Amino acid sequence: MHRYTLLSYVVAALLVAGCATTRNTTSSTTAREQHRPLFHFTPPAQWMNDPNGMVYHDEEYHLFYQHHPESTVWGPMHWGHAVSRDMVHWEHLPIALYPDSLGTIFSGSAVVDANNTSGLGTRDNPPMVAIYTYHNAAMEKTGRNDYQTQGLAYSLDKGRTWKKYERNPVLKNPGIKDFRDPKVAWNEKANKWIMTLAVLDHIEFYSSDNLKDWTKLSEFGKNAGGHGGVWECPDLFPLTINGQQKWVLLVSINPGGPNGGSATQYFIGHFDGRTFTSDNPPQTTLWLDYGTDNYAGVTWAHVPASDGRRLFLGWMSNWLYANEVPTSTWRSAMTVPRELSLIQTEAGVRLANVPVREMQKLRTGTTRLKAQEVSGTLDLSGQYGLNPSLLELDLDLDVARAQEVVLRFSNSKGEHLDLGYSVANKELYIDRTQSGKLDFKNTFAGVHKAPLIIQDSKLKLHLLLDVASVEVFANGGKAVMTGIFFPNEDYTKVELVSKGTTQMQESRAYPLRAARK
Ligand code: FRU
Repeated sequence: MHRYTLLSYVVAALLVAGCATTRNTTSSTTAREQHRPLFHFTPPAQWMNDPNGMVYHDEEYHLFYQHHPESTVWGPMHWGHAVSRDMVHWEHLPIALYPDSLGTIFSGSAVVDANNTSGLGTRDNPPMVAIYTYHNAAMEKTGRNDYQTQGLAYSLDKGRTWKKYERNPVLKNPGIKDFRDPKVAWNEKANKWIMTLAVLDHIEFYSSDNLKDWTKLSEFGKNAGGHGGVWECPDLFPLTINGQQKWVLLVSINPGGPNGGSATQYFIGHFDGRTFTSDNPPQTTLWLDYGTDNYAGVTWAHVPASDGRRLFLGWMSNWLYANEVPTSTWRSAMTVPRELSLIQTEAGVRLANVPVREMQKLRTGTTRLKAQEVSGTLDLSGQYGLNPSLLELDLDLDVARAQEVVLRFSNSKGEHLDLGYSVANKELYIDRTQSGKLDFKNTFAGVHKAPLIIQDSKLKLHLLLDVASVEVFANGGKAVMTGIFFPNEDYTKVELVSKGTTQMQESRAYPLRAARK
């Protein structure tokens, strides 16, 4: 199996190198693979789902990911691997973790064990330690419930090569089918490693001095938040608002998302080193992103305190249709990396997210969009030559006299994606019912909505468009939506359509360059 997967990796790498050469010889975008994003992370070839093991070490951001190297559909999971110095330009590395006799390698996290608490490295050369879920399909077939366990692997060469810990698993299964996706972080208060684990319909916290021996501390969530599906891929971290520290617990849930299928909910509260308590009423469900295509996201470990940001990235797909999306040599992309923060809203403290500032490197210039009143349709691409396949928009709108305002992205075939705000419904929406290819799965087409209350009629829309996806960050990341789409031809036109009168204040558009080589 190893030799075969290595071979297919090499073939995939050659294939990608071939494509890259083709791209360099042409100035148009026609030679590239259809629907392949140009600045979002995609695997060189084959299947990808969740981001894993996100850790910053020695000036590199590591991104591992759920990967099936032999197919464009989900299968026996490996950890694919890439590194970046800026979260924008990525270098693909060989597969980091292969399945072994204990199982395939499901999602998990990685830490730098700076004090060598695990003894897996030395003080001079501390180990990077990956903590992941083993999924044993053979055991599952026999009808047992204890086939998911947690294991360790470590690297002494900046993540380039990995060894499995010889006494795996480090956390056995208590007889619950869904027992996975460990996110480990050092907790100052407890003076221990804390593991946040998704267990069917709740979260369990475990602690350890050495990453090898784990003790259960507490549970959270059986009666809190959304329960429309299984809980997966948690994360727990502190953020500060008005000088006060809060703890944020991310929990991905599938299905049960606000617009169907997979989505990521969060809780804001307190973690005392043992127990998490939520500030929100148990019946409230909060969503990090209301779009259909941001799942299993977690944050980077060990981002230096001098940087201070909480950096997040998610898988830009949805289990409703991820295995069927119409791409050929690869499947799925990640969202852009985002910075998380707490903001005060009329409903209380909420989690906001915006693209990291490093994304600005991709701007090739600034197009100023002059202030104007729009009643009906304003052709932004006609007026300013904007190409919606590779574009950032930063629009300041006043909708005091509008009922609805829509950004429409379209091609010559009449296919279009609408991103709108309904003033009456106080809702942001993405309508992809006429966006292009739809028939690969009947759950794909749809109108997806996010509640958004705006102050003084001011609507700020910050958008990133990359061939087959849109990410919209409204009013500073207060409402966020991510959606993918598959037009038969790339979109070439951007229009601003107003029902009633929208006052566009002076705004900005940034043509972008590709991040991929
Ligand atoms: C989330 C998930 C995880 C699991 C992984 C398997 O998308 O289902 O819970 O570890 O994917 O690939």
